[in-house]
Order: sequence, then C-alpha cells, then structure tokens
Amino acid sequence: IDNGLALTPPMGWNDWNAFGCDVSAKLVEQTADRLVSSGLKAAGYQYVNIDDCWLTKSRDVSGNLVPDPVKFPDGIKGVADYVHSKGLKLGIYQSAGTMTCAGYPGSLGHEQQDANSFASWGVDYLKYDNCYNMGLPGKQRYQAMGDALARTGRQIVYSLCNWGEESVASWGGSVGNLWRTTGDIDASYGRMLSIVHQNMPLAASAKPGAWNDPDMLEVGNGMTPTEDRTEFSLWAEMAAPLIAGTDLRTASPATLAIYGNREVIAVDQDQLGRQGVPVSTTGGLDVLAKPLADGSVAVTLFNENTAPAVMSTTAAAIGLPRAKGYTLRDLWAHRTTETAGTISANVPGHGTVMYRVAPTRTPERYAPDLVLRTSTPE
Ligand code: GLA
Repeated sequence: IDNGLALTPPMGWNDWNAFGCDVSAKLVEQTADRLVSSGLKAAGYQYVNIDDCWLTKSRDVSGNLVPDPVKFPDGIKGVADYVHSKGLKLGIYQSAGTMTCAGYPGSLGHEQQDANSFASWGVDYLKYDNCYNMGLPGKQRYQAMGDALARTGRQIVYSLCNWGEESVASWGGSVGNLWRTTGDIDASYGRMLSIVHQNMPLAASAKPGAWNDPDMLEVGNGMTPTEDRTEFSLWAEMAAPLIAGTDLRTASPATLAIYGNREVIAVDQDQLGRQGVPVSTTGGLDVLAKPLADGSVAVTLFNENTAPAVMSTTAAAIGLPRAKGYTLRDLWAHRTTETAGTISANVPGHGTVMYRVAPTRTPERYAPDLVLRTSTPE
C-alpha cells in the first residue's frame, strides 16, 4: 500500500522461528542490543518483531488487550521505548480471527481498539495472522485492520499473514505492505524449496510498498551453510522481507556473516523494487534475474539437486543490453571477473551462486591522456 512505508522490503528479526511461544521483553531487548553490536543494524536490519504469545488469555474489563505481565513486565510500551532508544523499531503480532494461532484473544471485531493500543504503545509494524477467522473473506478482514491502523495516524508497516490463501498476491498490495505467499516455513531444505516454488511465479505483484513474503528466514537454525546461503540469496533475489529468524545472541560468526552480506542485501534493498523472475527452471536448475536501479542485473544460479552441476545463462538472457563485455561480481566470493556474455558457474548441490552483472564500461582512468600522465616516468 501507498502508506510511505516499506519502499524496500522490510528488514529485521522475529522470535517465532527460533523460540515459538517463548517470547519476552528480555529476549527482545537482548536481541535489539545484539542487532546493534553485531553490525546488523548498520547493515539495514531495523524491525524487532514480537510474534504470538505476548498476550494474557483474556481482555480487560474495558476490552483492551493485556500483555503478559510476566513476559512483559513493563508492557509493550516498555519494550518499544527500549527498542526505540537503540534506533530500532518494534513489531507486534495479532490475528484477523477470534483467537491468535496459539489461542490468545484475536482482533476480529476489535480492530480499532487494538490498533489504537498498538499506536499508543509505539508499535511500528503489525504481523496480522489468519487463525480462527470464522470463514469470513480475508480481504475484508485484512482491510478492516488496515483501515484501523491508518486511522491511528501512526506509521505502521502492515504485514498480512494469510498463508497465500484467497490469491492474496492479487490483492495484498492494495491492503498491506507485504503478504505471506505460503504456509509456514521450517528449517529444512525441502520446506524452503517448496516455498521458493510457490513464491517464484508471483513477481508481477511486487513493487515498492508491496512485497511477496515467503516467510521469515531460517538461516542459522539447522540447514547446511550452503542451504543457508541459498535461502538468503533467493530471498534477496525475490525482493523478500529479510526477517532473521534465529537466536542472534548465540548465532555463530558464519551465520552472522550470511545475514550481514551487504552485497546480497543491496540486491534485496534495490530501489527499483523488482522481484527476480525465472529465466529458466529446467531439471531443477533455476536461473532468476532481477533488474536493478543502476542498470545491472542480479542473477541467481540455484541448483535444487543434490549433485553439483555446471549452470549457465547469458547476459542477453537475463535482459542486459548488448556490450563488448560484462563485469560479473560474485556476491558470496566478493570477486569480480569479466565475461564476453556467458554467465556460468559450477554450483554445489542445494547451492546458489549469485552475481551482479553489468556491461563493462571503459573506466575514465584508462582514458589515453590519463594513462600517459600516470605512466610517464618522473
Ligand atoms: C502462524 C503463522 C506463523 C506464526 C504462528 C504463531 O502459523 O503463520 O508465522 O506467527 O502462527 O502462532
């Protein structure tokens, strides 16, 4: 939606993938600290998001939502103040149903009252789930909360979590800033692959302010390092939200390096806001191309299979204009090579090679007069 938010895909963290219902102010605040100390905040991670299980089991006598006083002794306002003091933003979770998925009071029929609570606490992001929805049409339930959020006057990113149901990719962008395109992810290669297949064909729906959401990242939660890099590469290539889903307080340097790969993040956060499209997908060898604002193209060579494979495409196939040569920047090896047009790599099983490809321009420093000047002996 055109609320001025999420002009590039949202970046941040959410507790659900690593902690389930075990959320607390302490966890959120320690994670905020870690986002700062690890350098991930500087790399673009901004939203610290609380998922399900932050509530008590019933509303108060006035019908207000009540944060669990044991998990959140200073309420959501307390944790929001802390997160804001670190220069970060706070996200919360609710459901467009009578209960949240874990059985806490839902927001269906309480949209304005709950939106007002979120705004008064300083919430900056709402993930709005789909459990216990009474069979009412999703668009109507999600629009009701969207209208309520808008009426608060607070800038709140609106994340629709209706699991790809009711063709949400066709209307999600008129209701929210992002929408889940699938059921829940887990830390397995098979589940991640199935989500990639579902999210990949939806590129036409993505644009600044409106993103397909293939769910939160599982990097660091148990896949192999190769699979973790594949997930991060493909999420960036598909202009997906980059919401870290691991325990950042204990994450290994290798995990933090994946989340912190700025060249890959730059592809995700590119101002043009285009989702990468499939160029070829035969035999489990998927080539995606994402046009970028500077005229270059990000390409992923993803080998779904277990055996290594040589994968290739061409500058023309990924949409680059004809040129004498092209610069290939390998976004994981951080090395630059030149090619006449063939883009090729030996890709390990379950692996992804990611390049940023641009027509090679003759740099000014090679202009003849400058070459003469710099090469003239004193
Ligand atoms: C649903 C959502 C998940 C998570 C849980 C919480 O399954 O899709 O992302 O929020 O609910 O109960």
